[in-house]
Amino acid sequence: METQKYWNIGRRLPPAESISDLPDWKQAQPAWIDRALDRALSKPSGGWFVVDGVRAIGTGPCRYRIDGRDYVVWRTGDGIAVAPDSCPHMGARMSDGFVRGGCVVCPWHGLELGVEGLGKWKPLETFDDGVLLWVRPPSAGGEVTERPIVPPRPDRYFDAVMRLEAKCDPRDVVANRLDPWHGAHFHPHSFTDLRVIEKDEESITVRVVYRITKRIGMEVDAVFDCPDPRSIVMTIIRGEGVGSVVETHATPIDPGHSAVVEATLATSDRPQFHTFMNTFSRFVRPVIEKRALRLWVEDGAYAERRYEIRTGGS
Ligand code: FES
Ligand SMILES: [Fe+2]
Repeated sequence: METQKYWNIGRRLPPAESISDLPDWKQAQPAWIDRALDRALSKPSGGWFVVDGVRAIGTGPCRYRIDGRDYVVWRTGDGIAVAPDSCPHMGARMSDGFVRGGCVVCPWHGLELGVEGLGKWKPLETFDDGVLLWVRPPSAGGEVTERPIVPPRPDRYFDAVMRLEAKCDPRDVVANRLDPWHGAHFHPHSFTDLRVIEKDEESITVRVVYRITKRIGMEVDAVFDCPDPRSIVMTIIRGEGVGSVVETHATPIDPGHSAVVEATLATSDRPQFHTFMNTFSRFVRPVIEKRALRLWVEDGAYAERRYEIRTGGS
């Protein structure tokens, strides 16, 4: 594809050979993507699912549907609880109630339910990793673990999280990210000069210019790999922001319906980076989240199309 002119404000990278001179559509081999996806799908999940960004959980109860069941999520005062969204008395939706003294209060007859539960109604195992809220529902099959498999993160970071739903399965979300070759074609507003420079059976490294504006970009090398069957992580390994990660997690809602929760954890060894990001977090975080959402509106359409084809659509 035609190379776009831009001004690189990032660090200069050492030269790197592309693994192929073939056009992107020839390099993007469905068989490689399927193999890498199968490897990811064969990894253990420990039974954990990402619910949302921790910051998205407000003061009132909210409802999330995960793997075919509805849950109420609320802040208990010293943590976040997740429990069935059906009152043990007569089945009212607890997420339509309110929170009082760390308990969720049923809207129909005022039953107060806390983390100790009541009869068969019990909060689930949860884990707050500081950025994302994870839950381990009883429906989770396979071997369960005490903690979710949280990918390696930088020691110090500025985080932003976006969530979006798509009509596809988690595997379609992961497959989208295992195809970096679509990046500069499908998201020309965000990427240019994308080349694959390393590839093995389960990870792929790209050199890409991330566009900040039309003419200003930052060239980085980034590696993609899957730590569990429903997550794919991009880590910057050379250029500006080495160690920064973008974690994309897919959580099943129902068959053919998934949530994509993406956390951007930005870091830098530039002296003023963290001071700047934290000082202007009210402005910077929405910008990062909006850009991630824009990409995922497009990638969601890609994943939905992949699901359609996979399930017999034309
Ligand atoms: S349905 Fe919840 S208290 Fe009656
Ligand atoms: Fe994409």
